[in-house]
Amino acid sequence: MRLTVVGSGYVGLVTGVCLADTGNDVVGCDNDTGKIDTLKQGGCPIFEPGLSELLRANLDAGRLRFTTDMSEAVHHGEVIFVAVGTPARDDGSPDLTGLYAVVDEIAGHLNESKVMVIKSTVPIGTCDNIETRMARHTKYRVSVVSCPEFLKEGTAVDDFQRPDRVVIGTADPAAAACIRELHEPLVRNQRPIFVMPRVAAEMTKYAANAYLATRISFINHIANICDALGIDVNDVRTGIGSDARIG
Ligand SMILES: NC(=O)c1ccc[n+]([C@@H]2O[C@H](COP(=O)([O-])OP(=O)(O)OC[C@H]3O[C@@H](n4cnc5c(N)ncnc54)[C@H](O)[C@@H]3O)[C@@H](O)[C@H]2O)c1
Repeated sequence: MRLTVVGSGYVGLVTGVCLADTGNDVVGCDNDTGKIDTLKQGGCPIFEPGLSELLRANLDAGRLRFTTDMSEAVHHGEVIFVAVGTPARDDGSPDLTGLYAVVDEIAGHLNESKVMVIKSTVPIGTCDNIETRMARHTKYRVSVVSCPEFLKEGTAVDDFQRPDRVVIGTADPAAAACIRELHEPLVRNQRPIFVMPRVAAEMTKYAANAYLATRISFINHIANICDALGIDVNDVRTGIGSDARIG
């Protein structure tokens, strides 16, 4: 499949490289010219085990290339992934300015109907807003799919290639089938692909982040109490972690 990934940061680069590695024809796009120059030369701007080797192999195989030219990028992909940053503002809310700017830019270059996959972590309802926005900016139909990313920095390639699950948020059967097909080579370990409403997919990502953060806060509180009582928190962590309900 011809794929475009807009945003060649952590998530976008890993997504593009791994999907090229499963045989797709991928163009990665970013507005950071330094980053794109590095990538074109086979250099990897981030350190992530296995990424550099996969990047070079797929560049050499001609399945992967990089550009700063949004028009070229948009025309290339049947499916356009969006993986730009959504950084937290001072009040904790995500800044979606960059995401909406990219979406509008993509709309301006569309020359046919496409599937757009939002990999960025976004508040519930954002994909609905993007679809409405696309309809205002272009006459071509864009089916917006939420496909949140669950990878961890440090094991990003492995997490992407062997995900615990894939979540696809859409009510469009054709778009769901297309994104499922792209992920099928990654779930040969029998992990599930869940297709659900877009807002449920967006909520799944927020709920997963909130749950993981709660666990960290919880064990940090327990560690403080352990320190005060002269207990090694690692003993406690192992003791509770062996309970399958806690895991
Ligand atoms: N890093 C993680 O571990 C992780 C995991 C899961 C989800 N996410 C989410 O994925 C999204 C991306 O995160 P990231 O860590 O990859 O961010 P990042 O900052 O590493 O990458 C974002 C990229 O988008 C590019 N970009 C910004 N504006 C652009 C534009 N107008 N045109 C083209 N490119 C543009 C930037 O230059 C940058 O290279 C965020 O929503 C984040 O919350 C991140």
